[in-house]
Amino acid sequence: MGSTGLFQWAPNVAIVPKTHTAPTVAIPPTERSAMRIYACANLKGGVGKTTTAVHLAAALARLNRRVLAIDIDQQADFTTWVGPEEEARLTIVDVMRRPSDGELLRRAIAKSRIAGVDLIPGSPSMIEVEAELGRTPAPSTALARALRHVDDYDDVIIDCPPGMGFIVWNALAVATDVITPIDGILALAKITSVQETIAELERAGVITKAPILRTLQTKIDARVALAREISALLKEFAGTTPLHTGIRLNARMAEAPGQQQTLFDYSPGATAVADYAAVAEELVS
Ligand SMILES: Nc1ncnc2c1ncn2[C@@H]1O[C@H](COP(=O)(O)OP(=O)(O)OP(=O)(O)O)[C@@H](O)[C@H]1O
Ligand SMILES: [Mg+2]
Repeated sequence: MGSTGLFQWAPNVAIVPKTHTAPTVAIPPTERSAMRIYACANLKGGVGKTTTAVHLAAALARLNRRVLAIDIDQQADFTTWVGPEEEARLTIVDVMRRPSDGELLRRAIAKSRIAGVDLIPGSPSMIEVEAELGRTPAPSTALARALRHVDDYDDVIIDCPPGMGFIVWNALAVATDVITPIDGILALAKITSVQETIAELERAGVITKAPILRTLQTKIDARVALAREISALLKEFAGTTPLHTGIRLNARMAEAPGQQQTLFDYSPGATAVADYAAVAEELVS
């Protein structure tokens, strides 16, 4: 337990949304491929999921990994930030509506603005997909079924929306690793909701092996004692594998989307660049 006692109340907070219950029909276990599939997910918004997805994709590509990013957030922030120049004709919405169509999936893959990173773009219409999934017998498996048509990447990075709806369930069901960014106490308190959702997917038979839940401390201000306390709490958080590297707060981060660049290109000397590069090294080592 941490020295501040801050963590003591966290597990008691009602943080697991009950809007979704386990699917009532049996679902065949999701097959996993040799690819590493990283889902950037946290119930809490604004913690650095998209920032992490964008910079991890860039960092892994710089290690000569073949990287596919998938933007499943209806906000489509990843796509706005570093998506293709022309508006995409096909997006993740089409892919999730027709997960058995491998040809469609291949056509949906575009070049992102990050060197060496392909992207299945996001779309505001994902809000409709969330509702549509709820009416299908296997609402958590569409993405896994679609990704069976993908085998020419080393790493897939999925940028999730905040919340724990069916869209996120789909990402957790196919992920080998879940990266949960933590930018403060409130984000920390929501790790349990990710764990609960993974447990629910196991109970429902959607997955046979739980993904590794990796916490990543973000927006670290080394001058603030709380940052060190959160780091200590993450090291102790049961059932998680904390990434050793955290991401330092960097004022230039807010400018990068306006340039449609990652910090690797926009501000290569930024501390966050070194941090994300170190996270990528940690993940592939
Ligand atoms: N290391 C950092 N230094 C400074 N600002 C950061 C850092 N990481 C993220 N931010 C800022 O935090 C804000 C939220 O980041 P981001 O959009 O990545 O979060 P998110 O979890 O994807 O949000 P959402 O839940 O809306 O999808 C942005 O303004 C971003 O610039
Ligand atoms: Mg986001």
